[in-house]
Amino acid sequence: MARLIDGKALAANLRQSVSEKVELLKAEHGLIPGLAVVLVGDNDASQVYVRNKIIQTSQAGMNSFHNKLAAGVTESELLDLIERMNADPLVHGILVQLPLPDHINAEIVINSILPQKDVDGFHALNVGLLNIGMDSLIPCTPLGCMQLLKSNDEDLSGKNAVIIGRSNIVGKPLATLLLQENCTVTIAHSRTRDLKTICQQADILVSAVGKAHIVKGHWVKPGATVIDVGINRIKSETGKSQLVGDIEFAEAEKVAGAITPVPGGVGPMTIASLLQNTLKAACSQHEVRIPE
Ligand code: GUN
Repeated sequence: MARLIDGKALAANLRQSVSEKVELLKAEHGLIPGLAVVLVGDNDASQVYVRNKIIQTSQAGMNSFHNKLAAGVTESELLDLIERMNADPLVHGILVQLPLPDHINAEIVINSILPQKDVDGFHALNVGLLNIGMDSLIPCTPLGCMQLLKSNDEDLSGKNAVIIGRSNIVGKPLATLLLQENCTVTIAHSRTRDLKTICQQADILVSAVGKAHIVKGHWVKPGATVIDVGINRIKSETGKSQLVGDIEFAEAEKVAGAITPVPGGVGPMTIASLLQNTLKAACSQHEVRIPE
């Protein structure tokens, strides 16, 4: 049976560590990191994610600013809000929850955020810095995945890593991070041929597709480390609503060396990474070192 990689426990440790550093920042520099979250419209999943981000920001001792905008808000109204937050010295991190409604160009919105306040790491400058290996704000879900992998095995060098999903939010930045750890990286996607054979060669298998149980248990190489980024709501056989990942957990667990559960795997690490990024952004804007 695979070892469970406990994202919930690891995230709790990380949040504790961030809280302690926030306390030190307050005491030594009078600095309170602040995160502004923007939610446009009323997408159910986004509302849940944003609520959790806001609660955990406050619990870490940071200032949390919440901006809820109607689905019909214009792009220029949203850009005006971002301009005000860019100029606000109490706001060190700005996060615009995606997806945005179709009439708003997400690329323009993301790139209007000051790169040093872009705690999602989605701004073109941060994407570029990450790709050339320079210090930058790194997208939260890939950052959380790397911390989960490192908690399981410090040395990833030479491993075959297969990522299913090529999004800017997860797949592409995660590939860059794994490459920096000297993995041999394959990004698979919806047009990939013979996904099963590719997965069977993976020492590290990450799925970030968003389709329940798309990765079968027998696709997992014996002993592999499996990271499930998917969060999918399905109706169970008894008719109850249930959260499951992209991976057939019950089958994969019998073959894998280590595996993340859903829920309680990547999800909590994403928010803990957001808190880390907000702390880092606040410190770098004030030119103080992140407390040890
Ligand atoms: N929607 C899904 N994941 C994310 C994320 O990491 N950041 C933002 N802003 N929106 C998302």
